[in-house]
Amino acid sequence: MGCCFSEPVDFDGEVNLYHFDLHRAVGKGAFGKVRVVEHKRSKQLYALKYIDKGRCIRQKAVANIIQERRLLEEIDHPFIVNLRYAFQDDENCFFVLDLMLGGDLRFHLERKAFIKEEVVRFWMAELSCGLEYLHRQRIIHRDLKPDNILLDAMGHAHITDFNVAIHYSDRRLHTSVAGSMAYMAPQVVSKKGVTAYELLFHRRPFDGRSSEKMTQSILKDPLRFPEDAVQRCSEDGIMALKGFIDRDPSTRLGCRPNGQGIEDIHNHPWFAGIDWNDLESKGCQPPFVPDMNQANFDVSHELDEFLMVEKPLTHSKRKANQDLEKMKPELRQLEEQFTVYNFTNMKRMSYYPHNQPVIGIESDNTDRTLAQSATGTIIPTATIIERSQAGSPVLESTDRHNMPPIFNSTHGYAVS
Ligand SMILES: Nc1ncnc2c1ncn2[C@@H]1O[C@H](COP(=O)(O)OP(=O)(O)O)[C@@H](O)[C@H]1O
Ligand SMILES: [Mg+2]
Repeated sequence: MGCCFSEPVDFDGEVNLYHFDLHRAVGKGAFGKVRVVEHKRSKQLYALKYIDKGRCIRQKAVANIIQERRLLEEIDHPFIVNLRYAFQDDENCFFVLDLMLGGDLRFHLERKAFIKEEVVRFWMAELSCGLEYLHRQRIIHRDLKPDNILLDAMGHAHITDFNVAIHYSDRRLHTSVAGSMAYMAPQVVSKKGVTAYELLFHRRPFDGRSSEKMTQSILKDPLRFPEDAVQRCSEDGIMALKGFIDRDPSTRLGCRPNGQGIEDIHNHPWFAGIDWNDLESKGCQPPFVPDMNQANFDVSHELDEFLMVEKPLTHSKRKANQDLEKMKPELRQLEEQFTVYNFTNMKRMSYYPHNQPVIGIESDNTDRTLAQSATGTIIPTATIIERSQAGSPVLESTDRHNMPPIFNSTHGYAVS
């Protein structure tokens, strides 16, 4: 599927799709696909995530894409799927990311009867490093789940998909810990804990058919373990899960402020066998190595294009001399704010603190309409609209603590 008639490419000019050969589709996102690409000059392979502008505008997700682009620019960490390039053409916005050929954890979860405890523990240890880094950068991911955790070919775990991630301020951090329980309600458990539970036991600790039932379940249901839990997980493991899924943030494992949270994780008996220094430099041998002789992704993503259900991605020249004034406002916003990034010649920039989206001001979410993305992340539509103001100055509202919860009714993860 590579590009056959390549015109000379200007590698000294701004990065664009012509700098890459297009290969297999390896994933499907809410607004487009993810495929393998090869940089024509460096020969380096990457993942290209592309976002159909029309679809993104129809789903009122322009601000999310811009936010994702900005947050990705400022982060660079061994356990995160890092951004290498960003650019756009008339049809799509493009993220060029580190390529993860080991598959996402949903893929492995669906194909394995069970995943060994030591494997889950190793992934959790690596993810804890990634999350701790994000928190130091004042970023909360808000959508951690097996679909958004990717393995590289060696088996190291990486966090991806910053589509609903946000920066938080001290002020909000403070209120979200000290604020009224009613607003914190769905944020009472850690998604890392829910993810670990699901990976170990093939089911989620809290579930419900509707977001209300799920809220109730998250809020009230006692944390139960399957009958055969002790055969599948050590006592230390059960203790760690209970710690991660603790409803009280002041005692929840990994939640103490000022870096004490990660220390508590380091010192937890479940992680006793981990050499954290080696681990942080990716020096530990992953206990599960993906089979690289097979595709670690759903090969049906490619069929859509072969069957012409979906327009195949092609290189296309940009229309010349476009007048921003005459553009649809959302298209113009994308042109102006989804700016080019090239990791080889640009320093990573932080948009904080000017990049905090305006947070919802409703006191609860019961009458919110929910929009569901293709991958199951449910975002209250009001939040999306509010988020279309991403980049606007900080709203120092007294309602800051009424941060809208984001539910994921298909996967059962609450925000934390
Ligand atoms: N860097 C990558 N390398 C390999 N596969 C990827 C990469 N990024 C995403 N994918 C695959 O594509 C899927 C969708 O990507 P994601 O960024 O989560 O999009 P969305 O925001 O629409 O959920 C992931 O679940 C994963 O299977
Ligand atoms: Mg995703």
